[in-house]
Amino acid sequence: MPIIRLSTGIKEIDKMLLGGIPRGFLVAVVGEPGCGKTIFCLHFINAGLKRGERGIFVTTEESRDSIIRQAEQFNFNFLQAVKNGDLVIIDALMRKRDDPFSLMSLDPEELVRKVIEVKKKLGHGHVRLVIDSLSAFWLDKPAVARKYSYFIKKVLTQWDFTILATSQYAISTSEAFGFGIEHIADGIIRFRKAVRSGMLKRYLLIEKMRQTPHDLKMYEIDIVNGVGIVVKRPTIYRKEDIALPEHVKRRIINATKQKEQEIP
Ligand SMILES: Nc1ncnc2c1ncn2[C@@H]1O[C@H](COP(=O)(O)OP(=O)(O)OP(=O)(O)O)[C@@H](O)[C@H]1O
Ligand SMILES: [Mg+2]
Repeated sequence: MPIIRLSTGIKEIDKMLLGGIPRGFLVAVVGEPGCGKTIFCLHFINAGLKRGERGIFVTTEESRDSIIRQAEQFNFNFLQAVKNGDLVIIDALMRKRDDPFSLMSLDPEELVRKVIEVKKKLGHGHVRLVIDSLSAFWLDKPAVARKYSYFIKKVLTQWDFTILATSQYAISTSEAFGFGIEHIADGIIRFRKAVRSGMLKRYLLIEKMRQTPHDLKMYEIDIVNGVGIVVKRPTIYRKEDIALPEHVKRRIINATKQKEQEIP
């Protein structure tokens, strides 16, 4: 069976992926705060809407209005898509309890239940799904990250979704989040940032995409008002471009070891 590939909405990234993300995949979009994960997800949903595909955007980080406003800055008309019933934005804990598009708790079962309920309302067929962020569902219990993400993948992939799930590394405490999703994900798109010559630079790297001989180079990207993510040039390898500080690496290793031991 030929692989159907979905456009990410960014031509250069599609090219890096030999056409796009294989339909039915769950792809982890990972990286530090402010490096472009949410904006990449907006592109993905918008690319679907442009092709007459429907979308569900789950946001645990922002309100629905905030997502619509951010999309608007890149000329993605999410408000219209919501009105037309082509896009449903589900937020978490932002609304009153009787709101049909709000999660009642940051619980993986609640997420799956709500997403399937909305999918049924949207009707038959393929839907692009964004979960931004998936790591929010295990904030207080990183040890179960892998178990949760496996559960979410197992259930949701039976429902004709192609999924982008963002994941953050919050290394403010002694714990590191994020690991858990990467192993079960069919793909990993990593965003990075660094300050070079006094300027904030952003980078993108496709670290994993099953069934795809993808581009292995790290690219510098820009986020441009009115446009969104723009891919610039591949970067020349420099250790400091990709390496985390030593103390952060140590924390991740320790937290991962501890998590492995905690998994029942
Ligand atoms: N209209 C705009 N024009 C140019 N740059 C913008 C615009 N809107 C947002 N940005 C840039 O994008 C950044 C936010 O990117 P994004 O929301 O995708 O980050 P993120 O990786 O999802 O972060 P987090 O993990 O905190 O959610 C902002 O900090 C800003 O630098
Ligand atoms: Mg975000």
